Amino acid sequence: MTKKQLAIGTLIEAYGLHAAAWLTEEAEPGAPNDIAYFKNIAQICEKGKFDFYFIADTPACRTTDIETWARSPMYMNQLEPITLLTALADATSKIGLAATASTTFYEPYNLARLYASLDHISNGRAGWNIVTSANDFAARNFGADRLPPHNKRYAKAREFYQVVTALWDTWEDDAFVYDKESGLNFDPAKMHVLDHEGEFFKVNGALNIARPPQGYPVIVEAGASETGKEFAAETAEAVFGVATDIEEAVAFYKDLKGRMPKFGRNPDHLKVLAGATIVVGDNAEEAKARFDHWQSLIHPDVGLLRIKQDIETDLSDLPLDEPVPVDRIPAESNHHRAYFEEIAGMIRKGLTLRQICQQYTRSKVTIFGSPEEIADMMQEWLEREACDGFMITFPVIPSTLSDFVEKVVPVLQARGIFREDYTGSTLREHLGLPRPENRYTAARAKAAADEKAVANG
Ligand SMILES: Cc1cc2nc3c(=O)[nH]c(=O)nc-3n(C[C@H](O)[C@H](O)[C@H](O)COP(=O)(O)O)c2cc1C
Repeated sequence: MTKKQLAIGTLIEAYGLHAAAWLTEEAEPGAPNDIAYFKNIAQICEKGKFDFYFIADTPACRTTDIETWARSPMYMNQLEPITLLTALADATSKIGLAATASTTFYEPYNLARLYASLDHISNGRAGWNIVTSANDFAARNFGADRLPPHNKRYAKAREFYQVVTALWDTWEDDAFVYDKESGLNFDPAKMHVLDHEGEFFKVNGALNIARPPQGYPVIVEAGASETGKEFAAETAEAVFGVATDIEEAVAFYKDLKGRMPKFGRNPDHLKVLAGATIVVGDNAEEAKARFDHWQSLIHPDVGLLRIKQDIETDLSDLPLDEPVPVDRIPAESNHHRAYFEEIAGMIRKGLTLRQICQQYTRSKVTIFGSPEEIADMMQEWLEREACDGFMITFPVIPSTLSDFVEKVVPVLQARGIFREDYTGSTLREHLGLPRPENRYTAARAKAAADEKAVANG
């Protein structure tokens, strides 16, 4: 019997996900705007047979604390994700291409077109990470001072998803017949106009692009809240997990998949990808020493600001070398709940402010080790049903990415838990996800079957 296979996605940011990545020797000035640079990175990922390349996004640039952010410019100079993925589609042939787009700031019609186009251009390799956004800088670019409350954002996301998927079903798969003899370019019976009026959106129209090759691009989510998990159980096909250890990951996996049957869904049709930062070395000590060096490059002001942003309160009045009083944890979070909880956990453990600044990575699990040690961990998580695969963040690229591709991937392949080569050509095929049937085609088939049943008595 073939062993269960790992899925691997990676979140790519120009220099890597470490706050001081741009300060390392290998970081090339100008890389964030250099398409040749990103093509090379995507090709390294494809050489590693990853399921997908992923771009995180928020439609905003930070506009406060600029002197501090100037020392850690992540997300301050970024190519627009769909534009970048379109270029990467041409530089690769198999790897999935996924990006975040916010349901709080897009209109469903625009987004449906963009992702349908990316899916056509890439021949079925697109994925959409649905987020509701988690910072007020974005709100200010779109006519508001603050983000709408959490529950309202999720209610809007749900309706957004319904409108977008309905628009992707505008055309049945075989609607465009290109029949020169009859003079019909498309079959009018296979075009369906959406007439939607809900709490947030009113859309009366049809999408002006044929159904995406994958039916729908793969739906990705990362919400860690109750509402986020319910939404994922109803709609997501890949979820980025944020567990801190294997026990928590097993519980999350069970919890999320356990919520799916009530939405009529098969738990195999959602892949849980555990988040992990990975640094490969000759051994764990050597890899950790490299990481510690990068941590030492983070300016103290940057450390404090990253904490302030994610715990949603300013702690800079506190002494650096004393534990942070537990009553400084805000009563609730409105941004990234998982990051908030990570810092709150450190405060509850009694860590000093300096220790929190140095240890907080925005990644729930950081693994250092030899290729075998890293493969051991990944295999254990897979076999214990802590995940179906990993969403890996590499702290400094290209080096930590290349190390993983060259040293860890062959070990996973030798163990029979990761593909030697791609067997399919779409992102759905890589992840083992079914292609959603067009709702109108399905309804017609059902009506025909019902009619036949009646005729047969
Ligand atoms: C791997 C990963 C990638 C994420 N990418 C984004 C992103 O690109 N943009 C964004 O606004 N949030 C991103 N998030 C944050 C989640 O979507 C976030 O948890 C959510 O917006 C808040 O919902 P929650 O309160 O249900 O957790 C990401 C989270 C993870 C774990």
